[in-house]
Parts: sequence; C-alpha cells; structure tokens
Amino acid sequence: MSSVLAGPVLVVAGARPNFMKVVPILHELDRRGISRRFVHTGQHYDVRMSATLLSDLGAPAPDELLDVGSGTHAVQTARVMERIEPVLRTHRPSWVVVVGDVNSTLACALVAVKLREELGCRVAHVEAGLRSGDWSMPEEINRVLTDRLSDLLLSPSRDVGPNLEREGLLEIPHVFVGNVMIDSLLAQLPAARALALPTRLGLPMHGYVLATLHRPSNVDDPARLPILLDALRGVARTMPVLFPMHPRTRARVAALDVAGALDGLTVVEPLGYREMLSAMDGARACVTDSGGVQEESTVLGVPCLTVRAQTERPITVTEGTNRMASWPPTADGVRREIEETLARERLKVGDRAPEGWDGRTAARIVDALLATPHPAERA
Ligand code: UD1
Repeated sequence: MSSVLAGPVLVVAGARPNFMKVVPILHELDRRGISRRFVHTGQHYDVRMSATLLSDLGAPAPDELLDVGSGTHAVQTARVMERIEPVLRTHRPSWVVVVGDVNSTLACALVAVKLREELGCRVAHVEAGLRSGDWSMPEEINRVLTDRLSDLLLSPSRDVGPNLEREGLLEIPHVFVGNVMIDSLLAQLPAARALALPTRLGLPMHGYVLATLHRPSNVDDPARLPILLDALRGVARTMPVLFPMHPRTRARVAALDVAGALDGLTVVEPLGYREMLSAMDGARACVTDSGGVQEESTVLGVPCLTVRAQTERPITVTEGTNRMASWPPTADGVRREIEETLARERLKVGDRAPEGWDGRTAARIVDALLATPHPAERA
C-alpha cells in the first residue's frame, strides 16, 4: 500500500447533509496524523443549518470558509468554483474529498479535476454511485457529473454497480466502503438519547410521527405542498406530528395562501444533529423526503415512509425499514400510508443495517485514499 501522500487531503462540506459525512473522515485523518484541510463552502450558513450540527458532531474548525451563501444554482455553483480555486492552488492537495450530491460537491470536483494535471490533485467522491434516475432533481445532476469527474468512487452500498456500468464508469477505480453517515450516527447515539428531546417537547416516546419535507419537488410545487400538509394534519388528529421545518419549506408555507396550513402540527426550527437523532430514535415512524432520514431510520429500526417519486437509496427499502409512498401523492393516500407505516414493527438499532453501515466507513475511506496509486505510479 502506498501510504505517503504528496500534499494534504482537502475535505469539502457545504450544506447540512454533508457535515455528518465529513466529520468521521476528518477525525480518522487526524487520528492517523495525515495532513488535511477542512473547507466549508458556506452553502448553508444559518446557525441551525451549520454551526449547531458541526459542534454536535465535534467537528474541527474549518480551515477555509468560502461564505458562498444562497443563490440560484448557477450563482451558488459559480461562487464555490471561484472561491475554491485559489485554495487548491495554495495548498496543492493530493486528494480533494467531496461528499454527497449538493451544489458544493459538484463545484469543487469540477475545479479540482481541471487542475489535476497542473497540481497533481485527484478527486474522491464519497457516496458515489447512487442514482434516482430523475434528471429533474438538481442532486441527480450533481451525482452523475461528480462521479464522472472523479478519480476514485467510494460507494455506500453494494447495489451501485449497475448504475456505474450504465454510465460507462466502471473504468474509474471504485471501492465499496459503506455508509459514512452511520459512523456519525453510532458515535452520537448515546449523547442523542441522553438529550431526550421527545420528553422535553412533551411528546410520548415511540408515540409520535417525525415529518421532514424540503425537496423542491414537494415544497416548491404550490399544488403538492398543501396536499402533504393536509395528510400530516389528518394524522395529527390521532397522533402528534413533530415537524422540524427547513428554511426553504418555511418560506414556501409562508407564501401559500392556505389558512391554518400547519394547524395541529408540532412545528419547530431545524434541529441540531443530536436533537434530530433523538427525535428519530424516539419516533413511532418517520415521513420524509430526505435521503439522510431514509438511511438513519433504517439503522435505528424506525419505520419510514418516503414521499418522493423514487429513491436513490433503494437499499433502505430492500434491506431496511423504508417504503415509498404512492406517486403522485394524494392527501388521503399519504395519510393512509402513514397509518400503514405506523402499524409496522419498530426494530432494534442495527437489526436491519445493510452491509458496511457499521461505524467503520471512515477508516475504509482513508485506507482507500492511501491505497489508490496516483496514475503516474500506475503507468
Ligand atoms: C440543499 C441541497 C439538498 C439538501 C439540502 C439539505 C443542493 C442542490 N441542494 O438544498 O440536496 O438535501 O440542502 O438542507 O445543493 N436557507 C437559509 N439558511 C441556510 C440555507 C438556506 O435560510 O442556512 C434558505 C435560503 O433562502 C435558500 C433556501 O433555504 O434559498 C434553499 O437553500 P439551498 O442551499 O439553495 O438549497 P436547499 O433546499 O437547502
């Protein structure tokens, strides 16, 4: 195994779902004394979307803050590209590690790959190979393009092979490493349980539904959002529904001309990482359009209903506790499917965890970075 890297490992995070993926990698690099830099692009900047999560996760302070903020996809992506370039030139990393499927992921991969020859940096994509097949999702575009640009694909589940094959990506070195988010989950679960968030909110343990919605296809559609809120209000007549609201969703609900759209729901601000874990762990069921909640509820053994046309994480259905709602959704249909989800059995933590969702993925990622020879060495 080649274990000497010419430059530091540069690890990039930008938005809420990135933080729980990068922190275990940063910790593992530090544990092994490997030089690294942590870049926070600032795609998410609210305290509750960023700082609270990073501190919950015990993240090291970012070495670079790009402060890109919100904007159209073009503006946000372009700002990340402009601001990451001088960082790469200054630090000449051996690896640029990008995670997930947000705009920051694609933007950094695109800049790094064009500097590859000049600086000798390579791109590793953590969470490679996932596909929803829905080209209208910005995340799907980001996933496909980031994989294509990468020098090393690090996949979370064994079912991604056909996706890579279909796109002619089998030439790119690929290592199955497992799901790094679960490293964070297992590390933080005891602290999350100690928080007892449900009790603090007056919710009965294992006696409420946790709902999250933030996908543009659900919340930006002025016809669909009222349908989904209607279904949640219907459920809330018989069981509490805890609804932590993403800023995008809050803005769309405010713009809706629907009186009492949130009546009967327990609406709270976006939760911190440990709070969210505590809320999921204490729930009877989850209803979501988030990728992370599908995976986390699977490991926690909590029945989950995903309100989307399809999932890029089918293993949470075939091997986990996730089920897909009928599509397109109707208020009665979603309410009935939530009731069916509530009737499903709650399992113990890890009872249905897919292979490699075991808390040791960051170590396998760092092993893979060290073991993948530079193309110059391979030749
Ligand atoms: C982004 C990701 C999505 C991920 C989600 C998790 C992309 C294409 N999308 O979507 O994959 O699931 O993050 O949260 O990268 N806002 C704030 N404070 C913040 C951040 C955003 O108020 O800290 C508001 C802004 O008005 C912004 C809106 O939320 O316009 C949406 O934020 P944006 O980063 O564009 O996309 P998300 O919907 O968060």
